[in-house]
Amino acid sequence: KEIFYFKEVNSTNSVAKFLAKNGTDDGAVVLSEVQLNGKGRRGKKWESPSGGVWLSIILKPKISPSKASLITLATGVVVAKTLKAMGVDAKIKWPNDILINNKKVCGILTEAHANYKSVDYVIVGIGIDTNLNLDILPPIIKEGTTSLKKELKKDIDDNEIIYTFLNEFELMYEKFQKEKFEDILNEWRLLTQTIGSYVEIKQPFGKILKGHAVGITNSGALIIESENGELTKVISGECAIKT
Ligand code: BTN
Repeated sequence: KEIFYFKEVNSTNSVAKFLAKNGTDDGAVVLSEVQLNGKGRRGKKWESPSGGVWLSIILKPKISPSKASLITLATGVVVAKTLKAMGVDAKIKWPNDILINNKKVCGILTEAHANYKSVDYVIVGIGIDTNLNLDILPPIIKEGTTSLKKELKKDIDDNEIIYTFLNEFELMYEKFQKEKFEDILNEWRLLTQTIGSYVEIKQPFGKILKGHAVGITNSGALIIESENGELTKVISGECAIKT
């Protein structure tokens, strides 16, 4: 598989999108030491100086577009397993943040290009705070963020993380293409801290839904049970776990 390595780009997702449109193969990886304009979900900026793993994977899966969102959940499983192998207790917060001790250490930004019957390409962007200096973050973000270095109290070898992650990713992607979605969801269920928790979900358009997260559907929607026992499926939103 091809790896494109950069010292500095605006966003590895943007580079990956350009490469995907121009015929780059399934499985190619774009890595950069620094991103000048790293992108987070919901149009937010993702701080990406040197000190983190910033990478994007180009995928051209032969699956129905309705299954594309499961790639994000599957990637969360791969990151959580990679971090656990490094010795931290990583957990997934629905839909796709990876937490250690309730603080975010990794975010995933998936951008898919599809029509109603097929997927052209999917870009999966992963940002892991390995040796990041947390003091550069705006205070409200810093509060909820951690780095592997901080958790493990030692310098982290980015290459080791990248190597483990890409190997695990390849195994997961094979399962994915064989449509073993149920296996992937079961792994996700074991690694999440969202199911079983009381949550508040801020949905698009600002509506807030409160209740117990009781499960996930086979297309990746979170199932919330509200006080009166009513069940709601949520496809997307910002999830806060209340403890
Ligand atoms: C989030 O908001 O939690 C998602 C953050 C995703 C960041 C990664 S870093 C590599 C890739 N390139 C980007 O511009 N964003 C993603």
